Amino acid sequence: MMSTIQRVGVVGGGQMGAGIAEVCARAGLDTVVCETGAAAARAARERLVHSLDRAVERGKATRAERDDALARLVFSGSLDDLADRQLVVEAVPEDPALKAEVFAALDKAVEDPDAILATNTSSVPVMRLGMATGRADRVVGLHFFNPVPVMPLVEVVPSLHTSAQTLARVEEFATSVLGRTTVRSQDRAGFVVNALLVPYLLAAIRMAESGFATAADIDAGMERGCAHPMGPLRLADLIGLDTVAAIADSLYAEFKEPLYAPPPLLQRMVEAGLLGRKSGRGFHRYGKG
Ligand code: 3HC
Repeated sequence: MMSTIQRVGVVGGGQMGAGIAEVCARAGLDTVVCETGAAAARAARERLVHSLDRAVERGKATRAERDDALARLVFSGSLDDLADRQLVVEAVPEDPALKAEVFAALDKAVEDPDAILATNTSSVPVMRLGMATGRADRVVGLHFFNPVPVMPLVEVVPSLHTSAQTLARVEEFATSVLGRTTVRSQDRAGFVVNALLVPYLLAAIRMAESGFATAADIDAGMERGCAHPMGPLRLADLIGLDTVAAIADSLYAEFKEPLYAPPPLLQRMVEAGLLGRKSGRGFHRYGKG
């Protein structure tokens, strides 16, 4: 089946949303990024330009490809600009109520009856977001990984209401158009990757919290001992500690298993604004933080 998806929208221009938009624009798609207002839309554009510039510096894109990708991108402060989109990927913060609100608003804003509404959530039930719309059969999970331009995986998550046609269209889109590898998961918090990854990150945080080992040694242990590209605390900082805590909350709410419970240190760090790389400090310090 040929993909007819040419016009995509991304809601949220944070690290995931900007990355998804970059990948779509680089795949030749006309891409609209929606943020909450003009200032946030400008910040999303800057984030994306910075990443494209890095791709050029690292020889992953030519200057012409960078410019072409930028020419395909529109940054907007209003969901009304998504009216003619054939696929919209929601990538707002990992807050169940906020995501449900966005889906209710997308249901009104997106006019094409064949359009697919996808969520980049890692832990909110896709079903719940589908039920916030009048078209749950065209709502599906498309979960990307951080940093999106670099990580080749997309988890595809049908809810109990997602139609076989929607599933086939997004799988074909992710593989043939975006050139990604897909794995399919049922609609359970954490899907495949985070259900395995997050307990590991939380175990590392508990290890640091108890004074068992330093953050530097925990990370060095996994980088040097297991050849992971980054240790668990550096990875938690990259994902964002607020996001790690939100995913842990959803996993714990779903399964009630202690291994998913967010440790107090993680909660305190989030309350303190120590969110990891994006705020300049988490388990490690970054840039001017
Ligand atoms: N476009 C294309 N390629 C890009 C790029 C861009 N915008 N920016 C960077 N790259 C390429 C670089 O060219 C480089 O490739 P090369 O080695 O072939 O030259 C590669 O990406 C890595 O970039 P850097 O050299 O700048 O960075 P590092 O070597 O320091 O690697 C890292 C950084 C890729 C983040 C690596 O440490 C890593 O893989 N870490 C683990 C990441 C991970 O586990 N992510 C999953 C998180 S879980 C998640 O996201 C789920 C969510 O729900 C929480």
